[in-house]
Amino acid sequence: MKFLVTGGAGFIGSAFIRLVLSDPPPKPYVLNLDKLTYAGNLENLASVAGDPCYRFIHGDICDGALVNALIGDEKPDVIVNFAAESHVDRSILSPAPVFETNLRGTFTLLEAARAHQTPRFVHISTDEVYGSIELPYQANEDFPLRPASPYSASKAASDLLALSYFITYRMPVIVTRASNNYGPYQFPEKLIPLMISNALESKPLPIYGDGMHIRDWLYVDDHCRAIRAVIERGRPGEIYNIGGNRALTNIEVVRRLLQAVGKPESLMKPVADRPGHDRRYALSSEKVMRETGWHPQVSFEEGLKRTVDWYQSNPAWIARVKSGEYQSYYQQNYAGR
Ligand code: NAD
Ligand code: DAU
Repeated sequence: MKFLVTGGAGFIGSAFIRLVLSDPPPKPYVLNLDKLTYAGNLENLASVAGDPCYRFIHGDICDGALVNALIGDEKPDVIVNFAAESHVDRSILSPAPVFETNLRGTFTLLEAARAHQTPRFVHISTDEVYGSIELPYQANEDFPLRPASPYSASKAASDLLALSYFITYRMPVIVTRASNNYGPYQFPEKLIPLMISNALESKPLPIYGDGMHIRDWLYVDDHCRAIRAVIERGRPGEIYNIGGNRALTNIEVVRRLLQAVGKPESLMKPVADRPGHDRRYALSSEKVMRETGWHPQVSFEEGLKRTVDWYQSNPAWIARVKSGEYQSYYQQNYAGR
């Protein structure tokens, strides 16, 4: 089995590569195509860098010549497309790169996969495409798409594009839509790692609006196991939701992590809300569980403990990713908020 993983130096892609390379023999061969944007970090893959079953290619999924040559030469059995501009706040500040990578990059990959008849194409997407979900509903795969941010609109567009390749060309495309991931190696722009790293420095924790927005939390390794199950047992042309079935308000999440690092709740600082902020995400994962046998294994309590332990044990990783560009992003997104 040969995988072409895109965006494998990011948070979820690197967890996926570490997972499949730790499988018992016969091991897969993994090609990792990554542009190394601010979010890409080869340190996340240090444990597999010397593995003869792993190869890194520095490049952009929007580069048609590169992508076409790579897929034509290597003939992967499956392409797993993680590469994306993945942060909602950045997509609000600067939407152009989001559409370039998330939409044109996906198109470029699909065209190359079509030309070379790649046997499986798994497009990694998000529950944000459904927009805010009213209580007591949970979105299943047939829910209408109501993306609210440039990020989620670009993901919804790329999902539809990928699915059109199944309908029109019978290309074996599968789309997965996961809820909020957390775990080690997550870039500290997202809620959980940002709050842990600020708390470790006793810096204020910026809570958008009233902090009562609800997200469904999924431990990253559970997400990666679900993707592996979908590759093995999912049906072409289908969408699979992947949720953690653990809904919490942001305030509750932050309270628990403050407790875990032993810092006071007074560090929480309400700030101006995110524009277009979705109130509640809620996902039904019944289909992926029924069709693949996958179910989440890591409770939020256990996952948060593992995550906090990892950040506490890796101050040098945090310091490096928070130097340089991160400082100007933080200033732009939070100063005067
Ligand atoms: P991330 O931001 O941590 O990593 C993205 C990776 O993609 C980085 O390594 C970056 O260098 C690479 N990349 C960006 N543009 C590229 C390009 N043009 N060409 C090649 N590589 C490029 O993202 P993540 O949190 O790991 O998310 C991975 C995927 O999962 C994304 O598609 C995202 O939409 C989706 N997703 C994320 C979550 C979440 O909670 N983080 C939940 C559901 C779905
Ligand atoms: O639902 C899946 C999505 O989850 C993924 O598709 C995205 O790639 C990922 O970024 C994530 O999007 P969210 O916008 O839900 O995640 P974020 O971590 O940015 O925010 C989670 C919640 O926390 C949200 O309600 C906004 C709030 N928040 C976030 C930050 C960064 C704050 O209150 N303060 C903050 O500083």
